[in-house]
Amino acid sequence: MLQTIDRKYFKYSQILCDELFKLLTSKLEGFSAFENIHLLINSKLLEKGTDQATNVHRIIYSDFDKGLQSPSVLAYRQLCREWVNDLRLIFAFEDWAVQRYPSIRVHLPRNKSVFEFHRDSDYSHPLGEINHFLAITKCQKTASLHVEQSLGWEDFKPLELAPLQSAILNTSIFKHGDFINVEEYTRLSLDFRAIPLHCIVNQEATRASLTKGKTMDLTDYYLHSSNLLDED
Ligand SMILES: [Fe+2]
Repeated sequence: MLQTIDRKYFKYSQILCDELFKLLTSKLEGFSAFENIHLLINSKLLEKGTDQATNVHRIIYSDFDKGLQSPSVLAYRQLCREWVNDLRLIFAFEDWAVQRYPSIRVHLPRNKSVFEFHRDSDYSHPLGEINHFLAITKCQKTASLHVEQSLGWEDFKPLELAPLQSAILNTSIFKHGDFINVEEYTRLSLDFRAIPLHCIVNQEATRASLTKGKTMDLTDYYLHSSNLLDED
């Protein structure tokens, strides 16, 4: 079974990246470009449990805590709405569960952005998830996510993208991860997931993601596609 990767651009990606740029400019001293973040933050090799713990994660995730009061969250939800409209056209399902807040990946030179190669389903993500990977900086060579091309073969290829380009792919059952970034720039990306609503309603309501103790339902990890701009 082969991985299929759909590369495309969404209008709201630019707005979301502009908001994140403004946020980092106001909170991270000396910030001037996403690609140069490594010049400003500590780059100790990431270990299990620390791959979401740089200063950049802290700044962005604490802004997300403001919910829809945050211009970045608002732009993210508008991007989700744009994506869901696209998914409706492709798959003809009206109702989707969409990841409430995106995950940020900061891939510093001489470092990784995720601790280990894995399948998202290893961490209790449901099998039907579709992953939306948005490149904020360019993603090239070792400064990119490496994705299995044939199920179970571990034939990883870099997910190379231009800034603001999205890849829609399956990371639920296809293995993926990072190598040490030997390029001379920081790769920044977002990833977030959607799944047809009917695929999660019949699952155990209390199923927790092994990564962050999140519950994989509409009370926590996901949001109903019709509430994207109504609910924090
Ligand atoms: Fe993953």
